[in-house]
Amino acid sequence: MSKTIKGFSKLSKSEKIDWIVSTYFTDSKSAKALIKQYWNTDQKLQQLHDEFIENTITNYYLPLGVAPNFLINDQVYAIPMAIEESSVVAAASKAAKFWFDRGGFKAEVISTQKIGQVHFIYHGNPETLKTFFKTIKPKLIDDAKPITKNMEQRGGGITSVELRDKTDDIKGYYQLHATFETLDAMGANFINSCLEQFAKTLENEAQQFELFSAEEKDIEIIMSILSNYVPNCLVRAEVSCAVEQLTENQNISAQEFAEKFVQAVNIAEIEPYRAVTHNKGIMNGIDAVVLATGNDFRAVEAGIHAYASRKGSYSSLTHAKIEDGIFTFWMEIPLALGTVGGLTKLHPLVKLSLELLGEPSAKELMQIVAVAGLAQNFAALRSLTTTGIQEGHMKMHLMNILNQFEASSEEKTKLIAHFKTNTVTHNAVVEAIENLRR
Ligand code: MEV
Repeated sequence: MSKTIKGFSKLSKSEKIDWIVSTYFTDSKSAKALIKQYWNTDQKLQQLHDEFIENTITNYYLPLGVAPNFLINDQVYAIPMAIEESSVVAAASKAAKFWFDRGGFKAEVISTQKIGQVHFIYHGNPETLKTFFKTIKPKLIDDAKPITKNMEQRGGGITSVELRDKTDDIKGYYQLHATFETLDAMGANFINSCLEQFAKTLENEAQQFELFSAEEKDIEIIMSILSNYVPNCLVRAEVSCAVEQLTENQNISAQEFAEKFVQAVNIAEIEPYRAVTHNKGIMNGIDAVVLATGNDFRAVEAGIHAYASRKGSYSSLTHAKIEDGIFTFWMEIPLALGTVGGLTKLHPLVKLSLELLGEPSAKELMQIVAVAGLAQNFAALRSLTTTGIQEGHMKMHLMNILNQFEASSEEKTKLIAHFKTNTVTHNAVVEAIENLRR
């Protein structure tokens, strides 16, 4: 049977499912039942989800958890997190509680500039192109007015457009490099619409520019697109306290813990193998909040990792120091987020998450997300430099195995007590359950 199909997108949802299950599944009945089991019984809600993307067959759930007790700039937040990985929400909550008692998190937005580019090819005289750009610049802005009018009324819009010569890298390659202020919107649609208008104006005006030769008039637009690299859309999050307040557990002094912690950060600053894992832990916190609030985590990921390599080598996003007896731990990251537009008014759980956060502005959300990332890194380094992470993970692992064997609460209590002093491995847990049940 052919595994390819023409016109799949034209089929109805149930025709799509029928084709999928009969073509790719041995037990097509069970596959179809599972697909349908994940449909929402509220048809309107299901239709809303169906229409987010194309060829929807069902829903894919992620848990939405909450990490409470985050004190950020003297305000308390309960942070929504959509994530499948166990321990992340627990770690965030633990870090929140730890810093709540030590003055909380401080966060500030440093800048909010978004970027977009029109990439084009021009093989003529560079000086004539410069003159052309100067001449048409007001028209570029003017032609985009229908798109920018509303944004301008709210205080945003296009903040600059410049011509960049990239011919040293690719023959004939130039850019219109533009910057934008998009306020509470992430701004992707706004920026891309402006850029596509710039490209049209550029092409049309070139045809009429008298100083261009016949060949020079034919500017070739390659593409017009925003950049997800936003090194000037920056937020900083920080925690600090006296070193002696960093009491961790009886096995390590506050001073020793602080010093080990700073060393762990230093290692991630200079060692890319460690930096990637270190930053992955930060992204556990960031992505979860970005996703819960309906933002584009792929854009955020791409931009942040580019920022982590801005000095030519991939490095830690966080930094730490001890100075005059004060421990300070901080991070600066680029974040282009929106609290209006996109999914924010469409996805009911995104609306819920934003309400939970007190309907934040984009700037506030930048601060909250950065804090979630910093908290996550604090929690990870705190375990790594003291008990190791397996202790916590193994507890979750134990619970997962116990649930898999449908252990009763009485069995769970006994086995949790047993594994306080015994190493958790899959075999050891299975054996212990069997012994108990014998
Ligand atoms: C696991 O998801 C994240 C950690 O590996 C992060 C780290 O090593 O810092 C625990």
